Amino acid sequence: MPMTSLSPELIQHNLNCQIIGQNVIILDTVDSTNTYLKSLARQGTHEGTMVIAEEQTAGRGRLGRTWDSQKSKNLTFSLLLKPTVNHEHFGVISLLVGVAVARALHSTTSLPVECKWPNDVLISGKKVCGILCEMVSNANQSLSIIVGIGINVNQTEFPGEIRETASSLSLEAGMLFDRVNVLQKVLEEIEYWYIQFQENKSDEIIQEWKKHSTMIGSIISIRQNENIMTGIFTDVSNDGALMLECNGSMHRILAGDVSVVKSIKRYNTHS
Ligand code: BTN
Repeated sequence: MPMTSLSPELIQHNLNCQIIGQNVIILDTVDSTNTYLKSLARQGTHEGTMVIAEEQTAGRGRLGRTWDSQKSKNLTFSLLLKPTVNHEHFGVISLLVGVAVARALHSTTSLPVECKWPNDVLISGKKVCGILCEMVSNANQSLSIIVGIGINVNQTEFPGEIRETASSLSLEAGMLFDRVNVLQKVLEEIEYWYIQFQENKSDEIIQEWKKHSTMIGSIISIRQNENIMTGIFTDVSNDGALMLECNGSMHRILAGDVSVVKSIKRYNTHS
């Protein structure tokens, strides 16, 4: 398959969205699409604006990590959302984006796709997508969310330190994918689930997220800086927090890195 280069016309052609992707900015190289979009957001750019880059020189991940992606092989982009719901529910946004990406990647590859709390997307236990949501306050003091998404599409080699844990659609499915096609599916799913969120249907988002999770019920460890907690991952609350039962008491976890200690395999019904 020839490598299609990205263009606003291609991305917007037959794109079934009213909010997301109505304004598309394509960059060849940028430090980070999140950083770029953050400065546009402060200048008042409208909701749904997307910044997508062929290459990032300082791609950022969660918890201060970097996000590396080979030039023109993958998707690295950021979207601007201006939710009108109460800020207390903003934690659900990363879950809704995870659900949307998981559903889009399943429909693209036909492979089982899993969501890992808070917002990684995995195929066969390996990470194919990372999501970084950042809040930015606008001139009028309202809050916007920058949703940064990195999807490994056609990259087939990963550096040593992540070789065991990272993968791509291409490696998992054994074929190359059209990036624009993948992107359009992701954008349409995000728009659908974002509208649910704006209509206060967080419960439905959480239900859908749980269908894509194989870790609920398992014994997990959560690392938050130097602190590690181990317990049973019992549930996800309606504001997106991970509920961890440790020695009979329940903890609400808002951030951290999850690893499975003892898996309780559930039959996954979505695929
Ligand atoms: C993570 O898994 O730690 C999150 C990774 C998020 C990477 C994306 S790529 C596009 C956007 N721009 C960035 O600098 N980061 C996000």
